Amino acid sequence: MANKSDFIGDETGKIRIIGEIRQPEKFKEYILPYKGKSNERFRYLMDKLNDDIQKKNLGAFYTNRVYADKSLELLRKAISRVPKGNDYIILDRCAGTGNLELGMTTEELSHTIVSTLEYYEYKVLSESLGDKVRHIIPPTEKEDTFNMGLVRGADALSKEYVDNQIIKQYIDNPSCTIILFENPPYAETTSLEHQRRKISKKSSSWKDSFVVKEMKKEIKGAATNDLGNAFIWSAFKYYLRQPTDSYIVYSPVKYWKAQHIINRKFLGGFAFNRKHFHTNIDACVMCAYWGQEESNISEFNLIGYDINKNNELVALDKPLPIRKINSLFSHKYYDRTTMPDSTEDGILIGLNGLEADSSVKRRITPIYSPEMLGYLVADSAGFDNPDAKSSLLVAGRYNGNGFFLHKTNYLEKLPMFAASRYITYNRTWTERARIMKSADGYKRYFADIKSGKLNQFMLQCLLFTCLEAQNHMQEFTGSDGRYYRNNLTLDTSNGTTLAAEALSEFNANDTEKELLAQWNKVLEAAKKTAEYIPTINYGLYQIKCDLNTSHFDEETGTTIFHYPDLNGHIKSLAELVKRYYNTTIVPMLFQYEFLK
Ligand SMILES: C[S@@+](CC[C@H](N)C(=O)[O-])C[C@H]1O[C@@H](n2cnc3c(N)ncnc32)[C@H](O)[C@@H]1O
Repeated sequence: MANKSDFIGDETGKIRIIGEIRQPEKFKEYILPYKGKSNERFRYLMDKLNDDIQKKNLGAFYTNRVYADKSLELLRKAISRVPKGNDYIILDRCAGTGNLELGMTTEELSHTIVSTLEYYEYKVLSESLGDKVRHIIPPTEKEDTFNMGLVRGADALSKEYVDNQIIKQYIDNPSCTIILFENPPYAETTSLEHQRRKISKKSSSWKDSFVVKEMKKEIKGAATNDLGNAFIWSAFKYYLRQPTDSYIVYSPVKYWKAQHIINRKFLGGFAFNRKHFHTNIDACVMCAYWGQEESNISEFNLIGYDINKNNELVALDKPLPIRKINSLFSHKYYDRTTMPDSTEDGILIGLNGLEADSSVKRRITPIYSPEMLGYLVADSAGFDNPDAKSSLLVAGRYNGNGFFLHKTNYLEKLPMFAASRYITYNRTWTERARIMKSADGYKRYFADIKSGKLNQFMLQCLLFTCLEAQNHMQEFTGSDGRYYRNNLTLDTSNGTTLAAEALSEFNANDTEKELLAQWNKVLEAAKKTAEYIPTINYGLYQIKCDLNTSHFDEETGTTIFHYPDLNGHIKSLAELVKRYYNTTIVPMLFQYEFLK
């Protein structure tokens, strides 16, 4: 199917593409023609029909009705603040098919202005709300309204829209209160998925928009890569202008927490599960109510709501704190000092811990030093693409974003690695896109490192690091002729490692003894495999890659492990590691604000 018009085109409006559902050709044998005149019936799945590029550009994830209705509470709070005698408008610049408006009263709708960029959404919006709202933009469909699947004049990021007189008349009227109520599109062009599809450039037409260009004059850095931020920034720039004006907006917390796009008065908010917005992702979306006045708070709470199978709201029992982040690991904790006797004739490593092949784009110099223990990446504040943002390798990662671990001080760096694994072990929706990595506790952390208070914690992080599968340190001979040792393993079959040495002074408790015993089981089973090479000190990951072999059985559709004992021990170890991480490591990571 080429595009949305081919599928749902109808005979209403100015553009008449008769879609497959009305006159089936390709699916002639499977579906009966849909007789409905308009697409009102499909209002809640129209985001799903956009093609991939369009989807990325529009970031159309519709709001679940249950959430939409809950957020009306915030809208009503905003309406209650309208000064006596004032008119007010509720503006939704990206209304889609109008889900946020579904539960509004007739009175509320009579103050509402809606628009949306996508043509078929606009038609549904216009049919269901056109005669109930104060304005829809554009007010009527003209011959040239359909513009390559989009609606002419409805691009909220265009200059034409910002200057639109229908809205401007209210902005310019001091006796009118402005309320914006929106679920803006969120599409990040830098996301891995985006890059994988190689559509970054093509799909980012919004990046050339008037609003984004203006935003770039005031805001620097990666925050301008996010479509949602352009909506949020522009709300305050062009629309809110009085203390009783309001912005109620759905968006992941990052814009406030890490990117600091806005600094306004927080007047209330909820945390919702992104899974109920037509995505598969369990993550936290904030619906926040911001006032126009500035505010420098560094923390606030949200009440979290999930939706159960009966489509009912379920409130979480504990409030979810949202705390602002001011510094990244890379600012405070990355080690930028040069290692002694370093040369530039080393090798670079891929994500899998082995030497990167020459076809990859190299972003760092292949440094080698006898002082080098490895290379650590614990990149960015958030947990998108966690496995690409968390690496532990025997030498520099080809695309950088990390730093060289020195043999002399590696221990104090390992909490960063531990923090970068948080989301893997905490997958509930309240954590992703809410909890982030920070270096805000660095003064306290360095002071306590110095005083020796954290000696035990550092060793606990080391133990975790040695037994965690994202530690991709592997032993091999590089193309530079050097043998790369894995110093972060407890396998000492070929001589001791730095980790083993450090942990020899470790005062292990029962849980830790159990972990060590389980590791020994893994190692013993690994040594019995046919693939075992006696000259290697194996880390867990290298065992998983090289020794725990398997094949896929077509008949049963399952993976058959050739060494069930080894596989079983690895699995049990993973369980123990998870429990250990969450009970012992995580509380300290929060205490020192590695996680926040
Ligand atoms: C996250 S959806 C929300 C839709 C609807 N308000 C809801 O809550 O279900 C964002 C909407 O913004 C629209 N949109 C994307 N870019 C836009 C733009 N530049 N101007 C206006 N609307 C846009 C999309 O088509 C999509 O319908």
